[in-house]
Amino acid sequence: MGEHTQITLKSDSAEKTTLLGQRCAQFCRAGDVVLLEGALGGGKTTFVRGFARGCGSEDPVRSPTFTLLRRYQARPVLYHMDLYRIAPDEVFSAGLDEYWYAPDTVCVIEWGEKVERYLPRFLKITFSFLERDVRLMKLSLKGFPGRDIVVSDAP
Ligand SMILES: Nc1ncnc2c1ncn2[C@@H]1O[C@H](COP(=O)(O)OP(=O)(O)O)[C@@H](O)[C@H]1O
Ligand SMILES: [Mg+2]
Repeated sequence: MGEHTQITLKSDSAEKTTLLGQRCAQFCRAGDVVLLEGALGGGKTTFVRGFARGCGSEDPVRSPTFTLLRRYQARPVLYHMDLYRIAPDEVFSAGLDEYWYAPDTVCVIEWGEKVERYLPRFLKITFSFLERDVRLMKLSLKGFPGRDIVVSDAP
């Protein structure tokens, strides 16, 4: 996937979404920001659980809905934000922007659509419901000319 293409992944279980998160982590590098968008219950936190594993972390992953930010020991270090409860401009007064593009860290942001306009480059994953336990994840890249991501939902 380059700058102008999109990949759609299909998952029929939480376990599969975790696996896909783990696969996506392989393509992320220190300094990256990953935006996770889409409805409540879409699987964003479930995806981060696999993503953290893929970054080499064994820390427990929970949605930082109240704390806004969690840090997972990994290489690179993984920051996990959840912006559900705050307004876009509050991100700055809360100092959360300091964690974007930091060297030696990757930052994954649930409800990333709230800050997308402030970010020059990111991997974006949009979650949607298809039926019952089936979810679609649409991946796209912005601001990374020449960057490529190859990931598949094959078993
Ligand atoms: N294919 C799937 N992918 C992810 N979660 C799923 C899937 N099917 C069912 N689920 C369930 O949906 C819920 C997703 O919750 P969560 O990952 O917290 O979503 P979000 O962070 O987007 O609000 C979990 O209870 C999970 O077990
Ligand atoms: Mg969540």
